[in-house]
Amino acid sequence: MTDEDLHAHLLELGLEAARRAGALLKDGRPADLGVAATKSSPIDVVTEMDIAAEKLITGYLSEFRPTDGFLGEEGASSPGTSGVRWVIDPIDGTVNYLYGRPDWSVSIAAEIDGQVVVGVVAAPMRGETYHAVVGQGAWMGERRLACRPAPPFAESLVATGFGYLTDRRTQQAEVARLLIPRIRDIRRCGSAAIDLCDVAGGRLDAYYERGLNPWDLAAGDLIAREAGALTGGRPGEPPSGELALAATPGLFDPLQHLLERFGAWHDGDPGA
Ligand code: IPD
Repeated sequence: MTDEDLHAHLLELGLEAARRAGALLKDGRPADLGVAATKSSPIDVVTEMDIAAEKLITGYLSEFRPTDGFLGEEGASSPGTSGVRWVIDPIDGTVNYLYGRPDWSVSIAAEIDGQVVVGVVAAPMRGETYHAVVGQGAWMGERRLACRPAPPFAESLVATGFGYLTDRRTQQAEVARLLIPRIRDIRRCGSAAIDLCDVAGGRLDAYYERGLNPWDLAAGDLIAREAGALTGGRPGEPPSGELALAATPGLFDPLQHLLERFGAWHDGDPGA
């Protein structure tokens, strides 16, 4: 199989897995949905539907690709032997999903030898599915995506997010306090994958957040890059849990510079 054929095959599987999980989550959400477990803190929640959707996705993908590896938010973890690993967030935006809010997504990326080559983000309540294949652009359905031309910095619309740990979110609020007088406004949608797709589709000028996990970031980062956005972390670094940033090119450097100055890459002082 050529690289191109392999990428097309992985894309087809990723799209179908996301479609199936999206339908399960949208149509099968119990009216009395509750919290099944908590993770890093009491507000970092998992629902039975996160677990069911991850099972559906890994089950579907392994039928066709039994030797691939997995990394999933709800515990899927196996190295595989094929060189392909699937990085899965069955519900990115679990708190929104729990409350019946529409901004949640299914995020599925395929890596080959550690490089993301395919990204799929389905946002069923928006009726939108985003995808990208490395080198082939970013798409929402049939529509090719391009990030917005950069506005003056003071007119930029920037999204961010807040982690679940008190020391982290306190510092994140401080960074937002310093940033907001310098830009048009801030958005916090509650799904990092959707924020990254919104940078790709021109609904945001930029997005940044500290503390993301690989499954929050993998698919959306490729989609943003393939739409022409620049992505990174601290100056000179790739996006990571320390800091992830995506922006239309004219905004990337000034925003990265400010985030460095404001300390967006570290947590607050636990004693403060
Ligand atoms: C969360 C969302 C949210 C971000 C959090 C993530 P989850 O993912 O992406 O927007 O602010 O940092 O943990 O827990 O809903 O999969």
